[in-house]
Amino acid sequence: AYPFYKQLRSLDPIFPMSQTGEQTSWIVTKYDHVKELLKSKSFIKDQSKFMEHSSSEEPDLITSVFQNMMLDVDPPDHTRLRKLVQPYFNPKKIKELEPRISEIADQLLADISRKEGAIDLIEDFAFPLPIIVISELLGVPAEDRNKFRKWSQTILSAADNLEADFIHDTEDFLTYLKKLFDERKENPQEDLISSLLQAEEEGDQLNREELYSMIVLLIIAGHETTVNLIGNTMLALFEHPEQLEKLQADLTFTDSAIEEGLRFYSPVDFSTARWAEEDVDFHGRTIRRGDLVLASLSSANRDEDKFENAETFDITRSQNPHIAFGYGIHFCLGAPLARLEGNVAIKKLLTTFPDIRLYDSHPRWQHVFLLRGLSELKVAVG
Ligand code: HEM
Repeated sequence: AYPFYKQLRSLDPIFPMSQTGEQTSWIVTKYDHVKELLKSKSFIKDQSKFMEHSSSEEPDLITSVFQNMMLDVDPPDHTRLRKLVQPYFNPKKIKELEPRISEIADQLLADISRKEGAIDLIEDFAFPLPIIVISELLGVPAEDRNKFRKWSQTILSAADNLEADFIHDTEDFLTYLKKLFDERKENPQEDLISSLLQAEEEGDQLNREELYSMIVLLIIAGHETTVNLIGNTMLALFEHPEQLEKLQADLTFTDSAIEEGLRFYSPVDFSTARWAEEDVDFHGRTIRRGDLVLASLSSANRDEDKFENAETFDITRSQNPHIAFGYGIHFCLGAPLARLEGNVAIKKLLTTFPDIRLYDSHPRWQHVFLLRGLSELKVAVG
């Protein structure tokens, strides 16, 4: 994809990718344009504004769960929903999780040490770490993580909401959450689910569909992308052995290595869909009301007009204003958490296994639209 983005940046930076009937879908690839798009009030998330309402029926639960996600709504709903969870994710609150994150990483690495042969860094480390952390923060049982993973992957890879697997897994996910909500109502804990149930009870802050949406979103967003951050950054280090050596020699570069990993192999390839609320003149193109616009974060992060030697992976890069976490009002809620998890993960991995190296030189990329991540990363540690 990177050579294609490079071509688009120079030849057609606001690119009409496809046309269905009256509607055009655009890809925006240059850094400045992407930022402008994500900041602009003319591009919104609520697509239902453009739909002809053919029936007056209430949407079913699954449809409404996906329509009510904070990531997919505009102000004022977005502002209200984000305010409810923001306190749990501010940098100070997240910093308090560091000892627990370190402990989980240590346990996983101890398990890896006992294994023989090649290790799959995704399966054995990059996946369990963030899913355990987000489960504990929300108050969902971390032992059920393989279920969350399956449900998340089905949801992320479904082409539309009518696929049988999608409906089946989402129903299971919601039934699971309903049971958990009932238990937690009986017996509240110091966790995010209990606090949102309290908000639901008090009325006017969020309703039941929004509560489901929020937990589904936080479980999915809270792990899929961080798995990719850890996997992609490690892969970039293996592909650039001199950078790996530099980091091993001086772990104070870990933070800048994470930022460079986020820029170089951005875990979220595209922002989620935006729709033009009215006709907009955007840098010489006319984007019509109802058109779909996708901003390529991966491309913006390799824009040669913004980053010097944009195609070079350099863990010591000091100016690195990448937009891997998005921009504007939907800027990633979990950025402080993802950064902390990435930092702990990579430091611990490199200190525990100083001889870590790539075992299979053809790591497998996952094919999930919007995301960039590995399904497997085989390494040798002994
Ligand atoms: C939003 C990236 C980790 C929760 C976003 C967006 C991006 C992003 C690009 C904006 C999407 C858009 O504008 O269309 C990432 C990356 C991560 C990461 C690269 C890891 C490296 C996390 C974690 C959480 C999280 C750990 C856990 C809470 C969210 C939520 C939103 C979001 C809730 C929606 C925010 C809103 O609509 O206001 N993320 N994310 N993310 N992210 Fe993350």
